[in-house]
Amino acid sequence: MGGLGWVKSELSKLEKFLKIKPLYFDVDTGEFIWLDTRLIPFEEVYRKTRDYRRVAEAIKTMEIRGAPAIGISAAFGMALAALNSKSNSVEGLMEELLEARKLLASTRPTAYNLFWALERIMARAREESKRGYDRVVGGVLDEALRMYLEDIKTNVEIGRVGSRLVEDNMSIMTHCNTGALATAGFGTALGVIRYAWYEGKKVTVITTETRPVLQGARLNVWELRKEGIPFKLIVDSAAALALARNMVDIILVGADRIILTGHTANKIGTLQIAIASKHYNKPFYVVAPTSTIQATWDPQEIVIEERSPEEVTKVMGKIQITLQDIEVYNPSFDITPPQLITAIITEKGIIEKPFEENIAKTL
Ligand code: MRU
Repeated sequence: MGGLGWVKSELSKLEKFLKIKPLYFDVDTGEFIWLDTRLIPFEEVYRKTRDYRRVAEAIKTMEIRGAPAIGISAAFGMALAALNSKSNSVEGLMEELLEARKLLASTRPTAYNLFWALERIMARAREESKRGYDRVVGGVLDEALRMYLEDIKTNVEIGRVGSRLVEDNMSIMTHCNTGALATAGFGTALGVIRYAWYEGKKVTVITTETRPVLQGARLNVWELRKEGIPFKLIVDSAAALALARNMVDIILVGADRIILTGHTANKIGTLQIAIASKHYNKPFYVVAPTSTIQATWDPQEIVIEERSPEEVTKVMGKIQITLQDIEVYNPSFDITPPQLITAIITEKGIIEKPFEENIAKTL
């Protein structure tokens, strides 16, 4: 894989923002490599593959999770499909890419970045297909690498933009993990916190544990501890009391999908924090790259993923905490309506209300 020296040189410029490297593509070996977030905070295990099907499995089982990380991994999945194609014609290769796209698109239905990434890769493949087989393979890999680097740069920019809202000594509540582990690097909502911290602001964080997969208790705790940022862990149901007791100045959460009206799908439990924030008059910000925004006006288009009952009846798939044969409702996301959102922080700036006008304008 010659001619990819630019990737290493671009990455070296971003090194200071990559204390945690959640995923990457090894241009020397042609392997996609990722940190298995299911094992965090107790073990740091990197996994690798040359098979796009394994990437799909890693996304589905949440070894890789968080909307931007899902999107970038899917893009690398497509690159692996192209690099390891068995076909020797452009038509055959394009068929294989469509197969790979289908499988990758079936993994997590809410994360809009997944569909955004797959469409961007396919658009590049279609464009290159006029110029021959090798151009498709090279083009798909090139696009995935660009998207990877862009995601990291975008997150740093989101951090810079969002940090303007963070004052010294603020207490920030967050929900789910939106840090390095949810992206190609640095993070979105947690990226804002990280950026503010790097600027020398003495923030403290209140993170929910984020039942049932415990992204807060496992992943935020691990990331915040690594940075030395002070934090308190609370159970999800303590969020309203923390707001009522004035323990929080500002709420920063991520998004799996934002639409033009401002409706925002994010980790289950976000909506109740937004409602409580409104009640207690605390600013509630959604933080996301513009690749999370779907250009639709219809909230019905937001697909809410429902995951296995086992996530609820067991803790981390291990300890059974209730009867086995019970009915469970396990939506992985909820939708926060625009009235509850103060503003949306993106790499293109802070989107204020009216969202109906300003989100479309930003795009
Ligand atoms: O189920 P997950 O862990 O993939 O859910 C993640 C979230 O809800 C995040 O808040 C969202 O994807 C934004 S990550 C920068």
